Amino acid sequence: MTRLRLDGLGKRFGDVDAVKDLDLDVAEGSLVALLGPSGCGKTTTLRMIAGLESPTEGDILFDEESVLATPPEKRGIGMVFQRYVLFPHMSVAKNVSFGLRMRGVDRAEIDRRVAEVLEVVQLTGFGQRFPSQLSGGQQQRVAIARTVITEPRLMLMDEPLSNLDAKLREEMRAFITRLQRQLGITTVFVTHDQVEAIELADRIGVMFDGELVQVGTPEEIFNRPRTLRVADFMGTTNLIRGRLADVGAAGATLVTDVGAIRVAPADHLRTGAEATATVRPEHIDLLPRDDATGLPGRIVESVYYGGTLAYRVALGDLVLQVRDRSTRRFGDGEEVSVRIAPHHVWVFPEA
Ligand SMILES: Nc1ncnc2c1ncn2[C@@H]1O[C@H](COP(=O)(O)OP(=O)(O)OP(=O)(O)O)[C@@H](O)[C@H]1O
Ligand SMILES: [Mg+2]
Repeated sequence: MTRLRLDGLGKRFGDVDAVKDLDLDVAEGSLVALLGPSGCGKTTTLRMIAGLESPTEGDILFDEESVLATPPEKRGIGMVFQRYVLFPHMSVAKNVSFGLRMRGVDRAEIDRRVAEVLEVVQLTGFGQRFPSQLSGGQQQRVAIARTVITEPRLMLMDEPLSNLDAKLREEMRAFITRLQRQLGITTVFVTHDQVEAIELADRIGVMFDGELVQVGTPEEIFNRPRTLRVADFMGTTNLIRGRLADVGAAGATLVTDVGAIRVAPADHLRTGAEATATVRPEHIDLLPRDDATGLPGRIVESVYYGGTLAYRVALGDLVLQVRDRSTRRFGDGEEVSVRIAPHHVWVFPEA
């Protein structure tokens, strides 16, 4: 197992800073997802790790040893791309064993390892088929099998699921998680899909404009975004502006135009500071108006989503998005009490 460390990594194409001063530590056997919008530098980062692009600044270390002088084919990297380029005229077994055959591994050893790997990717019995006789998900599993059979030190995956339909993607996510745990190969997985990153990754690195703006567990990124932009990218919709008061060991109060909202304690809270807080739609409780524990609100609109209801709730001029169970239902125009638990109110550390 290999630890990967990127140290002040940068790549400039002409006057475009594709990647800027990027520090990232990927623990042995873990999966880190690089998440960000199109053009933010994800592929460029992967290509530098693979040695297909040379950095203009910084260093890339495998187990604390720089690989900058190591050519791509000597870095021991397995790459899986969005478009799985299988050899169409070769059987699954031949596709999978390609790397081993190139290295002159003997026939019996190849047969044994192909059988082993096809079992891992759940394609036992598919060895004699051709790529055109497989579904998209099966083809992508062959592409993964072809990569893992070479026992790479690192796996780099660049949006490997984006060509698959929604249901297959879900299956493949679960499959990649199991495979990665089973084989324990250190992996960097690139995606622009938040859900994919959250489900797959041990840690997520969020990138914007060539910069890594936050690295953390999926839960930290989802519930404790550093900036409004990260929150926005993770699909948070509610922003509440106010001024912080009574900062202490028990937390703080965010004084807003619509009332006082309690905030859980955090190091970055300062009495008197202007602050923007966020709360996720599914973390807001709606209660009948006669419950006095919340702030007074009024239902503006509700949309039924089967298991849940999406409401827009007005608290004075502030309109909050709320997701609630559909076991109880409030009507449009109904007066309600809006309760937000302090540990679900997150004040951005950075403006
Ligand atoms: N060979 C190149 N020459 C010049 N500019 C490049 C080159 N490769 C990438 N870029 C630029 O670098 C930036 C980052 O590109 P990159 O492909 O890394 O983005 P990405 O995050 O992978 O995007 P996507 O999600 O669309 O694949 C973009 O502005 C892109 O236009
Ligand atoms: Mg890309």
